[in-house]
Amino acid sequence: MESAPLNERLDAVVARLERHGQGHLVVGLDQVGAPDLESFVEQVEAIDLEEIARLVQSPATLETAAGSIRPAPFVPREPAGAATFRDAGESIIRHGRVAAFTVAGGQGTRLGWNGPKGTFPATPVTGRPLFRIFAEQLNAVDARYGVETPWYVMTSPLNDAATRAFFQDNNHFGRPPESMLFFPQGVMPAVDDAGRLLLEAPGVLAVSPDGHGGSLRALHRSGALDHAAARGIQHLSYFQVDNPTVQAIDPLFVGLHATHPSSSGEMSSKMVPKVSADEKVGVFCEVDGRIVVIEYSDLPESLSAETDSRGGLRFVAGSIAIHLLGLDFVRRVAADDADRSMPFHRARKKVPHWDPESGDRIEPDAPNATKFEMFVFDALAFVERSLVLETDRVQEFAPIKNADGADSASSSAILQTERAARWIEAAGGTVPRREDGSVDARIEITAATALEAGDLAGTTLPEIAPGSDTVL
Ligand code: UTP
Repeated sequence: MESAPLNERLDAVVARLERHGQGHLVVGLDQVGAPDLESFVEQVEAIDLEEIARLVQSPATLETAAGSIRPAPFVPREPAGAATFRDAGESIIRHGRVAAFTVAGGQGTRLGWNGPKGTFPATPVTGRPLFRIFAEQLNAVDARYGVETPWYVMTSPLNDAATRAFFQDNNHFGRPPESMLFFPQGVMPAVDDAGRLLLEAPGVLAVSPDGHGGSLRALHRSGALDHAAARGIQHLSYFQVDNPTVQAIDPLFVGLHATHPSSSGEMSSKMVPKVSADEKVGVFCEVDGRIVVIEYSDLPESLSAETDSRGGLRFVAGSIAIHLLGLDFVRRVAADDADRSMPFHRARKKVPHWDPESGDRIEPDAPNATKFEMFVFDALAFVERSLVLETDRVQEFAPIKNADGADSASSSAILQTERAARWIEAAGGTVPRREDGSVDARIEITAATALEAGDLAGTTLPEIAPGSDTVL
């Protein structure tokens, strides 16, 4: 269908903005040329102004009565029948039913890296970029199981071109380009404290990615679900771009997700036990018979600090943003109206903007606006039976969020080295350790050498000198 001429669309957009108290957005439009005017019209047409007004008015805090919240049951790290579930998972992988899905649309503000986070050098010795780590894992999975694993990478409109260029420049790290799909997620406008949308420049709204929960819509709208279905994919292995130790495709997890009686095969999750009651991670809970993740700030302290008869935390299952998603489930949630009830969470942020009243560019030094994001774990609300699998922090969770301190490149490198050391020791090798038990070396194991600890069994292990660098 032909769209209406630009001037008619502009008139309609201006009338809508005025009706919603957003008339300030048209200031400065007379300085904007025709192509940019069309972008402005498209930007505004894509925004649900009623939804924004609702979001501004309603607080987004979770209101669940403490009495109805229980700890979520979970499958322990080495479950009964593990070998059978693992075999089932391997068979599903060998039949080409599993694709990888990386969410890489975040802005990486805390890390402050100039470029998409996936291009950040993450490994302790060679500084392999995050995207390369995952690509090498998938290359090894393909070789092991005789498959060509599709890989979906969600970007944002802000980093899409740079992400594609990085893969192009690096020959997709050996991945077959036709098995990969990059697609940008949606965006949401930022609003000031009076509920007014902000402008980045005359005729350009200030927007930001709509959260990792936007990934379900984005998979659907981009055609990624059709790409996957055409290849016989049934499950997506979801992980975030900033965790270099994630096991991109995990046979045990796949087997549990697809065949365990407590999973409906829709959405499963991994957790690590929290180290302390006040650790700032979301917690898997059960509310009205459903598994949910409750953010640390929403879980009443009376619950987060509760201990069991052995003194351990009752609400112990920390979310680490690793999931398996059934393809049919994603299609249903993304296409249905159910999607509309994925809540938007609000975050106060510093948003630089152009002020239509003064014509000045404002660089705030304190949070001045609200951004809206969906969180992927909120899709658990639509799952019939959801499985949570315990995993080990050192094995699978070494996130790089900050420039220094906790969850930084250096804390991640220590965890990556520790994991490599454990794999070597489990295979009968030795690793220099300091008196406090920490590893006195930097060690990196590439996916081509080992995808998991057991792969080192029977291989020739290196002598590692104290203080040295080793790459296996
Ligand atoms: P985070 O919110 O922890 O990190 O996202 P970030 O957005 O990259 O960085 P900050 O918060 O600005 O410092 C966790 C994961 O979710 C992805 C990120 O790319 C990361 O893999 N994500 C986050 C998206 O894909 N889209 C979003 O809108 C937000």
